[in-house]
Amino acid sequence: MCGIVGYIGNKESKNILLDGLKELEYRGYDSAGIAILENDNFTSFKALGKLKNLDAKMAEFTTSSFSVGIGHTRWATHGKPTELNAHPHLGESSYVVHNGIIENYQELKKELQDGGVTFLSQTDTEVIVHLFEKNLAHTANAFEAFERTLERLEGAYAILLVHKDENDTILFAKNGSPMIVATDNDGDIYFASSDAPLIGKASNVIYLDDGQYGYVKAQEIHIYDTQGAEVHPAFSTLPTSKLSAQKEGYRFFMEKEIYEQSDVLLDTLLGRLSDEEIMFDEVDTSLLHGIDEIKLCACGTSYHAALTASYLFEREAKIRCSVEIASEFRYKKPLLSTNTLFIVISQSGETADTLETLKMAKEAGLKTLVVCNVDNSSMVRLADAALLTRAGIEKGVASTKAFATQVTLLWMLALYTAQTRRSIDQQALRKQLRILRKVPLASKVDGAMHERIHRLSKRYLHGHGFFFIGRDVFFPLALEGALKLKEISYLHAEGYPSGEMKHGPIALADPELFTIALMPEHLLYDKMKSNVEELSARDSTICAISPLEFDKADDFLKTRQHEHYMLEFFEMMVIVQLLSMEITVRLGHDVDMPRNLAKSVTVE
Ligand code: F6R
Repeated sequence: MCGIVGYIGNKESKNILLDGLKELEYRGYDSAGIAILENDNFTSFKALGKLKNLDAKMAEFTTSSFSVGIGHTRWATHGKPTELNAHPHLGESSYVVHNGIIENYQELKKELQDGGVTFLSQTDTEVIVHLFEKNLAHTANAFEAFERTLERLEGAYAILLVHKDENDTILFAKNGSPMIVATDNDGDIYFASSDAPLIGKASNVIYLDDGQYGYVKAQEIHIYDTQGAEVHPAFSTLPTSKLSAQKEGYRFFMEKEIYEQSDVLLDTLLGRLSDEEIMFDEVDTSLLHGIDEIKLCACGTSYHAALTASYLFEREAKIRCSVEIASEFRYKKPLLSTNTLFIVISQSGETADTLETLKMAKEAGLKTLVVCNVDNSSMVRLADAALLTRAGIEKGVASTKAFATQVTLLWMLALYTAQTRRSIDQQALRKQLRILRKVPLASKVDGAMHERIHRLSKRYLHGHGFFFIGRDVFFPLALEGALKLKEISYLHAEGYPSGEMKHGPIALADPELFTIALMPEHLLYDKMKSNVEELSARDSTICAISPLEFDKADDFLKTRQHEHYMLEFFEMMVIVQLLSMEITVRLGHDVDMPRNLAKSVTVE
């Protein structure tokens, strides 16, 4: 979720880089940094938190002649958000910025450390600059040293590197993370990890392909392919609207955020999972000492993530777990015990009701933890400990990737609790860790499925209501599916545990009642099947979502076969999100900014 910018030319480079980073700040803002090489002088600035902190640090700085600059805004993955971990990373005489993950960084770091290199940060990125400088000692020039460096890197990256001895050059590479090179009418050259920083500055752009790398000098761009042959890709014209550039080709932020889930979930897992255990640098195991109950508290979508997690806490960690809606909990004069760990879940960290319950729990002397997407938010500052979900900024009012990352992080927390309390055996833990790693893939949008949902959506634009039904963790997912649909399409929708239908709601069943049935293979399939058959017998219109063929449904969305119900959960999550969005598009409503709603509810 980081952002990259670069510039080479005669204009004042500080403001170009800062302006560019401002456009990327929505992707992550735990720290930022800039390095500028003017003549033979390197100047570098880094600051924690929002970009305005970096801006303030650079207030006195300006360039007056030709310069070369790189900048970065960071969303922590390897290593905590600190100035030392912020990019650009320095070697002896070079600076690097990087997006992505160097998967073999531990092996490279050990090799470099054995050769006497000292590392300053905990990041994977720092290996790039040291490896480059080591190669420089055995090669004719910086470009050759860079090529040799790239040969050793495994993983995804977009890299910009500047080196003091070639003070008119930026070296670049792209593999799996986005990188654009652009020029303006004066021939000055820009880099950015998305269109937005370039709009209004550059006019022509090249979207680099995976495996391409090269160097730019004043007015010169040299690009090479994976075989090392120079290529001359055609320039395209930049889009003119910043908003559409931030949507990166998607129609809505919600759509972009649904597609992004697979990537941000990788960030949620990153550095927190080994083959043997969950590792949370941010939490001390003492937080769980003396705890015999977990209470989860949240609003809306975050409440649904909490409800999902409550099944996992009891099942995997064998600890009592209750879930509270914050707006109810704060006025019910609850009995609180200091043996309870109080966990609030909030995308924004600012929701007034949830914040208030956190204050109540603190006042009652409970240990507190927040699962949040926004560092430095009120809840993060107040709770004893915080786990960040790393979803990046969510712009669509209907929450999607925030939910996906909350569920994943809470599942990890259930396993962390289980391992700390020794309530899970090592073999079972290893299996869960292996399955967790598959969550990003299970959440990847299947283009053919999206197309099918788009076609199907035209049949679901009327009727007197929707029932989303499921059992166990698929019940909170049913609640979440119904919430997504009602908040953006304005159609009436309810989520129900399927076993409850016969206790009243089934009275509504007729062809104009649409039932969206979540039917996973690996969790109570037969029970679920008979509930859906009961509805089918009463002529409700049924859309079944399942990997197993089901002939009693009017419509059937066939999911992939997975080995665990949580992987089925994430695939079905994507489907209900897309279904809500496609129905809304057909009805002509505003997907990203539905009526009556706000992204952050800071009032009661
Ligand atoms: C629905 C949605 C809301 C929020 C709720 C809590 O799509 O986004 O239901 O989940 O307002 O917000 P946070 O998580 O910021 O506390």
